[in-house]
Amino acid sequence: MIVVDDIHKHFGGFHAVDGASLTIEAGSITGLIGPNGAGKTTLFNVIAGVLKPTSGRVHMDGEDITGLPPHTLFHKGLLRTFQIAHEFHSMTCRENLMMVPGGQSGETLWNTWFGTRRIADEERALKAKADEVLEFLTIEHLADQKAGQISGGQKKLLELGRTMMVDAKIVFLDEVGAGVNRTLLNTIGDAILRLNKERNYTFVVIEHDMDFIGRLCDPVICMAEGHVLAQGTLDEIKANEHVIEAYLGTGLKNKDKVGA
Ligand SMILES: Nc1ncnc2c1ncn2[C@@H]1O[C@H](COP(=O)(O)OP(=O)(O)O)[C@@H](O)[C@H]1O
Ligand SMILES: [Mg+2]
Repeated sequence: MIVVDDIHKHFGGFHAVDGASLTIEAGSITGLIGPNGAGKTTLFNVIAGVLKPTSGRVHMDGEDITGLPPHTLFHKGLLRTFQIAHEFHSMTCRENLMMVPGGQSGETLWNTWFGTRRIADEERALKAKADEVLEFLTIEHLADQKAGQISGGQKKLLELGRTMMVDAKIVFLDEVGAGVNRTLLNTIGDAILRLNKERNYTFVVIEHDMDFIGRLCDPVICMAEGHVLAQGTLDEIKANEHVIEAYLGTGLKNKDKVGA
């Protein structure tokens, strides 16, 4: 579904991504791991159009998507989640979901003047969709709460919910579990598994929690120093010499995280 071919991203003289190549299979939940500074987030940002690569190509379903802006990729079903934007904090969770652009006719001036009835119908449909998403994520009780008042983990779920308001095909999640308690992390994991099985979402997940990666991801890709070191099941990755070396090089704390 996604083919990343020899991507380089330099910041000045620094090679954050240094010749990364990988393939994401449609229907997979692919894990992306690696020590801090490996270039994972930078690679995500290049794939999702947030950063232009210094060189290399990205293809989606055979089409060259290198350098396309995020909103164009969004309409192709490629989404990279971000924290809920600051300006949405005073809106309710339901309203935050309803804000996700999906080609509502309320956006055009013509419809603002002449299409009141149609807008009302669409708003009702959007609200129903938002409520369905909240229920799927088991946070329907948060519908009328301000997004600024929910917990960090609940925000992560809401972030995932935003991808469900459009027809996402592939979703990139960067450290969705960071700072999230175990119970909510499991809820997020359940939602990812269900979206994958029931709605055909493909996921690419950057995460440091190896239990989470082990439960969700096959294959797992390990990056270090800007390129891909190894790909395989989590067990294969854990046993890979280059991977162990890369984690050892960054200290024992990280080595323990990969369970090596
Ligand atoms: N905008 C930037 N300018 C300069 N250096 C950057 C920038 N973004 C990331 N880097 C550097 O690139 C390297 C890779 O970062 P990142 O992609 O965030 O790694 P990871 O997500 O694997 O921890 C790091 O050394 C980081 O400091
Ligand atoms: Mg990162």
